[in-house]
Amino acid sequence: MKTIRIKCRETAKESVIICRKNVLSKQLASDLPWLKERGGIVFTDSNVFALYGKQIGACLEGLPVFTMPAGEENKNEQTLFALLRAMAEAGLRRNSVLIAIGGGVVGDVGGLAASLYMRGIDCIQVPTTLLAQVDSSVGGKTAIDFCGVKNLIGAFRQPVRVYADPAFFGTLPPREIRCGLGEIIKHGALNARLFGELLENRSRLTDLGFLASIVPENIQIKADVVRKDPAETGLRRCLNLGHTTGHALELSGADLSHGECVLIGLLYESRLALRCRGADGEYLSSLGSLIRDVLVCDPRAFDMRSAAHLALLDKKNTKKDSVTLAVPLRMGEVSYLELPYAEYERALEKIGRTL
Ligand SMILES: NC(=O)c1ccc[n+]([C@@H]2O[C@H](COP(=O)([O-])OP(=O)(O)OC[C@H]3O[C@@H](n4cnc5c(N)ncnc54)[C@H](O)[C@@H]3O)[C@@H](O)[C@H]2O)c1
Ligand SMILES: [Zn+2]
Repeated sequence: MKTIRIKCRETAKESVIICRKNVLSKQLASDLPWLKERGGIVFTDSNVFALYGKQIGACLEGLPVFTMPAGEENKNEQTLFALLRAMAEAGLRRNSVLIAIGGGVVGDVGGLAASLYMRGIDCIQVPTTLLAQVDSSVGGKTAIDFCGVKNLIGAFRQPVRVYADPAFFGTLPPREIRCGLGEIIKHGALNARLFGELLENRSRLTDLGFLASIVPENIQIKADVVRKDPAETGLRRCLNLGHTTGHALELSGADLSHGECVLIGLLYESRLALRCRGADGEYLSSLGSLIRDVLVCDPRAFDMRSAAHLALLDKKNTKKDSVTLAVPLRMGEVSYLELPYAEYERALEKIGRTL
């Protein structure tokens, strides 16, 4: 068992992240008395409910359960307001708790609902995907997609607790494992120790035992960044590595998971980084080969021209016709680029031809 804490400056509350086994049967079951006293609601999605609904019902007996249809396409205002309605109908009060059990979609929508209901109630995150454990459940970013833009409506609110249990990985399809590896390799680009471990274990990157062993380290890397910059005014922008191009690819309708888009984004952006002063070519090429170990698709097979256009919608852009990106520079070091749109588009197309 490992415990990681993030102190939230605005509310002086602490976010406690606990990595342990038997989260449902031991941790949540033992929390049940205080959850019942304060009033709680369980929020999950249809896939997680099909797999773990019985266990959830047994461990959290007596708490209402609201289930959203699974999938990013449902990370929208209809789901958010249906959940808020269920919370009101369950009679939740200011000290009540929302328990989000699922992947990043459930975590993001549940976290946002918790931040809105009565101007904010506590939220416990129980991430069930690799991506949600190493990334989305930590750090207090919550959101829904809106008007075709990913995460356009959201809030910062730290969960009071995060319970990460690797046993959930046992039911994840291989695609979701690759998805989580997208964020893990991104963390590797920020942390020399993890990068070394990933390179050393190249032959077993998808091994569930290996992944379980590196979850706490990944959470720690993210927590250390979030602790220093909870509202993303500076340092936290480094967590956007691969995400400008990755999000654009995701929006272009490519049949890829979020993490796979991030990996392809990181591959293209590490080539873009070569134009920066001080870029370490050897390191960027090891990063590229690690990414290729995980990808099962051809990174050249996408329409990078349309993706480039969609990158103009990115929330991180500060100028109208420019694209702002965080790119990997050297081991553990990130640089920030602001490229005029036309130049970004040309560069992506060129990289696509030479990958
Ligand atoms: N808030 C943040 O800081 C942050 C960071 C990264 C990503 N995100 C968001 O997270 C989302 C992606 O998260 P995700 O990849 O977890 O997607 P997801 O929540 O859609 O989960 C992926 C799929 O796996 C299923 N699933 C969940 N747990 C399972 C389990 N244990 N066994 C079998 N199936 C399971 C889900 O039902 C879904 O079909 C995106 O919306 C992204 O924007 C947010
Ligand atoms: Zn991400």
